[in-house]
Amino acid sequence: MIKVRKLTEKKLVIASHNQGKIRELRDLLGPYGYELVTAGELDLEEPEETGLTFEENAALKALASARSAGMPALSDDSGLAVDALDGAPGIYSARWAGPDKDFPMAMGLVHEALQKKAIDDGRGRFVSVICLAWPDGHVEYFRGEVEGAIVWPPRGDQGFGYDPIFQPDGYETTFGEMSAEEKHGWKRGQDVALSHRARAFKLFTEQCLEGRSA
Ligand code: IMP
Repeated sequence: MIKVRKLTEKKLVIASHNQGKIRELRDLLGPYGYELVTAGELDLEEPEETGLTFEENAALKALASARSAGMPALSDDSGLAVDALDGAPGIYSARWAGPDKDFPMAMGLVHEALQKKAIDDGRGRFVSVICLAWPDGHVEYFRGEVEGAIVWPPRGDQGFGYDPIFQPDGYETTFGEMSAEEKHGWKRGQDVALSHRARAFKLFTEQCLEGRSA
C-alpha cells in the first residue's frame, strides 16, 4: 500500500500568485484551522513553469515555496483541457491569456479554435493537481477533474479564468454563474465536491490531514 505523508504542521504556504486560486484554496482550507500565508505575502518568486504535465508544474511551485519558506507548501496547477483541441489549452491555460491575463481574449481563442473545426459546443474538462511539498523535498499529489460542455457565448461574472465558458455535466449554469459554494459543491448540502479543485482538495484532506475538523 502506498503511504501518504500526513501533514502534522498547522502552518502552510499557499504556493500561488493567482488571486482566483488563492481565494478558492483559502475557502477550502478555511474549516481546517490552518494558519495560511501566500507566496506573495512572503515575497517568494514565482518559479517558471517549465514542466510538461500538471504534476511537474505543481511540484515546481510547491517545492520552491516549501524550500524558501522552510515549511510545507500547497500548490495547484490547473487548466482547461478541450477534447477537440487535443487537450489544449491544458497546462498552457494561463499563457493563452497573455501577460495581461486577458481571459475574455483567451476564451475567444478557445471558441475560434473550435469554430475552425466547425464545432459549436465542445466538450472538455477542468483539471487540478494539488501538490503538497515539504522543505526536505517530499511531495504528494492529488488530482481532480470535472467534465462538462464548452459553451459560447461566455456566461456569468463570478469565479475566474475560463469559468464563464465551462458548464459542468448535470448543471444548467456555467462555473461563471455559480457562487463559490456551488462551484465547490457545498451548496447541495452533501460531502460531494464539484469543481476540479474541490475534488483534488477532498483527496488531500482525506489522505493527508490528521484530526480533520470538517
Ligand atoms: P496555472 O495553474 O497557474 O498554470 O494556471 C491555471 C490557469 O487555468 C488559470 O490561470 C486559469 O486560466 C485556468 N483555470 C484553472 N482553474 C480554473 C478554474 O477553476 N476556473 C477557471 N479557470 C481556471
